[in-house]
Amino acid sequence: MKFHLVSGACGFVGCNTVKQLLKRTNDSIIMVDDLSVGTHPSTWLKDSTTKKLKDIEIFGKDERLFFFKMDFRKFLNKLQDEPNWLEKEYGLKIERFADAFHFAAIVGGRAKIEGDPMAVALDLSIDAEFFNWIAKSKPERVLYPSSSAAYPINMQTESDAVALKESDINIDGFTLGMPDLTYGWTKMTGEFLAKIAAKNYGISIVCIRPFSGYGEDQDLSYPVPAIAMRAAKKENPFEVWGTGKQGRDFVHIDDVMDCMFLAMDKIHDGTAINIGSGKLTSFIDLIKVFTKFAGYDPQIKPLIDKPMGVHSRYSDMSFVKEKLGWQPKISLEEGMKRVYDVAIERLKSGKV
Ligand SMILES: NC(=O)c1ccc[n+]([C@@H]2O[C@H](COP(=O)([O-])OP(=O)(O)OC[C@H]3O[C@@H](n4cnc5c(N)ncnc54)[C@H](O)[C@@H]3O)[C@@H](O)[C@H]2O)c1
Repeated sequence: MKFHLVSGACGFVGCNTVKQLLKRTNDSIIMVDDLSVGTHPSTWLKDSTTKKLKDIEIFGKDERLFFFKMDFRKFLNKLQDEPNWLEKEYGLKIERFADAFHFAAIVGGRAKIEGDPMAVALDLSIDAEFFNWIAKSKPERVLYPSSSAAYPINMQTESDAVALKESDINIDGFTLGMPDLTYGWTKMTGEFLAKIAAKNYGISIVCIRPFSGYGEDQDLSYPVPAIAMRAAKKENPFEVWGTGKQGRDFVHIDDVMDCMFLAMDKIHDGTAINIGSGKLTSFIDLIKVFTKFAGYDPQIKPLIDKPMGVHSRYSDMSFVKEKLGWQPKISLEEGMKRVYDVAIERLKSGKV
């Protein structure tokens, strides 16, 4: 039996990956999350049948989802100290993990990235443990989520913004710029370690640089569902962080998943690829999309003391199209409509 490993499995990208693995395979999945941000699997799994096995939980009627609520570093330390720990303690005989997806990280959005950069720097310690572990245990394939935050910030200013290409970061050719704070530095370091993992340890690994991923199952602390909810409530004046002219590349999580799984099949040498829509949308334009759904035209109220990050961050998707033959399928309007419909449902059910 194959076992996949998903760290940060209860966060936004992690839980979507688990759902995809359930759909795409019949394999077993080890999920690790300390629930510092993510929510318990019973809140997002369709089949939340649960069975306890000592301090872990097994989900689903077919019992192929194993949930370890713990710090991922502790999980890896236990595996390193006692390689047969999972078999001895839980009867899980895993000679070698199949796919290892590493989503455990302190992310937290703009307020956290700017407001508590040292907390975000802890990602270096989570990633260091992960890369050490893969070098020793050699899972069949590894997915490392980097981020568009790894790109040089001087390419994202109001006057100089360009569509960001993978070649704008060239670790092998020594072309690096200044990434976005500690968050971006961590991702850049992760990409460097991924290259070393492939080259020096023979690991099959791919890095992805998702731009602004969003989805209808995202928590209201994320900007897209929060804006959708405020539009559903017909907020007027409509508050926006910064001037609202800053732009991002919004990409639906289903597209992220689609591209990620394809990339794992096709890339093995640590190469990093963009996952974006290739389009720049300002926050004001995003608000207009939602308020159009809601059928009103509010006054925009900029909150200029709030953090707004770089001015314009968007992807050039031509390398992905060329290398993987992949293009995003979900338009901004379609994806945002899905988020808006969920906001309306949440409002009606009083779940906000
Ligand atoms: N969401 C996006 O659009 C996006 C874009 C670029 C990159 N990424 C990257 O993808 C990864 C996942 O992002 P996300 O949006 O799902 O974030 P998230 O905050 O929703 O999920 C992270 C999960 O990790 C868990 N976690 C944190 N520290 C942990 C630890 N020490 N041990 C165990 N679990 C821990 C949290 O509880 C949470 O469930 C991150 O590395 C992030 O940088 C995401």
